[in-house]
Amino acid sequence: MRKQVAIIGSGPAGLFLGALLEKSGIDTIILERRSQDYVLGRIRAGVLEQGTMEMLDAVGCGARMREEGLIHDGFDLTFDGRRHRIDLSELTGGKTVMVYGQTEVTRDLMDGRDAAGHAIVYEAENVTPHDFDSARPYVTYDKDGVSQRVDCDVIVGCDGFHGVCRKSVPEGSITEFEKVYPFGWLGVLADVKPVADELVYANHSRGFALCSMRSLTRSRYYVQCDLSDKVENWSDDAFWDELRRRLPPKLAEAVNTGPSIEKSIAPLRSFVAEPLTFGRMLLCGDAGHIVPPTGAKGLNLAASDVFYASEAIRDFLDDGNEKSLKHYSTRALKRIWKAERFSWWMTSILHRFPADGDFNQKIQEAELDYLVHSKNASASLAENYVGLPY
Ligand code: APR
Ligand code: PHB
Repeated sequence: MRKQVAIIGSGPAGLFLGALLEKSGIDTIILERRSQDYVLGRIRAGVLEQGTMEMLDAVGCGARMREEGLIHDGFDLTFDGRRHRIDLSELTGGKTVMVYGQTEVTRDLMDGRDAAGHAIVYEAENVTPHDFDSARPYVTYDKDGVSQRVDCDVIVGCDGFHGVCRKSVPEGSITEFEKVYPFGWLGVLADVKPVADELVYANHSRGFALCSMRSLTRSRYYVQCDLSDKVENWSDDAFWDELRRRLPPKLAEAVNTGPSIEKSIAPLRSFVAEPLTFGRMLLCGDAGHIVPPTGAKGLNLAASDVFYASEAIRDFLDDGNEKSLKHYSTRALKRIWKAERFSWWMTSILHRFPADGDFNQKIQEAELDYLVHSKNASASLAENYVGLPY
């Protein structure tokens, strides 16, 4: 089989890229290791920057988001028993974010791709990129026990942090930057009314907490936990008690509790691979970088990556100059590092670091106090939260 672009992975990066390229008349195939149900069963963050919303509209898949998504024009920070609002809209000249689950974005992009009849192969085993340092790259995979080969002009690794593409790059041609945090997030999904109209990020001496939502009747909450902690150690009651302890009293009283429908622990990591272009193979999304979830940049970074990648691939297919593909890496990394900085910074001012004592807690409270009372500092937070331009 021959396709212009072979995309590996059908997370948001792969699906968005497929949609952008097909819209420009570029022929793509998406190869996904898992089943469609498995991909749609993963629960991930759900805050879309303006650029991500516009991209979903631009590829013709934004209708359900516009109907069911919740526009948020602010969020709250709590610390030292107090609650402060960050007015995103006022601080950014009218910009907002959209609360709409990543799972829903994935579903809408899959439905759009199905409707257009473009190729997507689920349960593709042993997907392997070949010869991307030559003018004739190709990808092999097995489907239902039969070996397949896709010849292409460009391979794009949208296969997440544990994918095969980054691992296929020759040793020495990639540099990895990494920071692993000494805690995780215990997340709970429950069909209860959210405690507040907007998201609440809480700094507390017992550790970070986050009140988020998926809809007006479905809440998503997180509390910082030890890395060694196990989900089995946390009954629903223990979770709700711990969440309430980390919120100011009035807010804690307002928490609606109920049985959890999902409970999981995720570690936090910052990671960037450089470069993101290897001859005729590009890495996009989690395949090239990871941010800790504080600030919800993961999906949005995948979106800006594939925007740059789609432009680079279009240029390359027009004039055959591999410089465009190289340029993708330089352009994307500039924005990636800014989002890495922001996610690292939000993580460091909101979490309890086990090795640091009360001094650090006081410094965090001072920084948060400065942040909410200085218009310039609030504006900087807001500008990053709604998403830097691309
Ligand atoms: N072959 C084919 N597909 C693969 C392989 C492989 N060897 N390895 C991984 N995949 C698939 C995974 O099953 C997954 O569906 O690649 C996809 C990668 O999707 P995501 O992990 O969602 O990554 P990405 O599309 O970059 O989206 C980034 O998702 O993980 C969150 O926090 C992250 O919000 C961010 C966003
Ligand atoms: C979520 O709703 O899952 C979420 C929201 C905001 C974040 C992280 C996760 O910063």
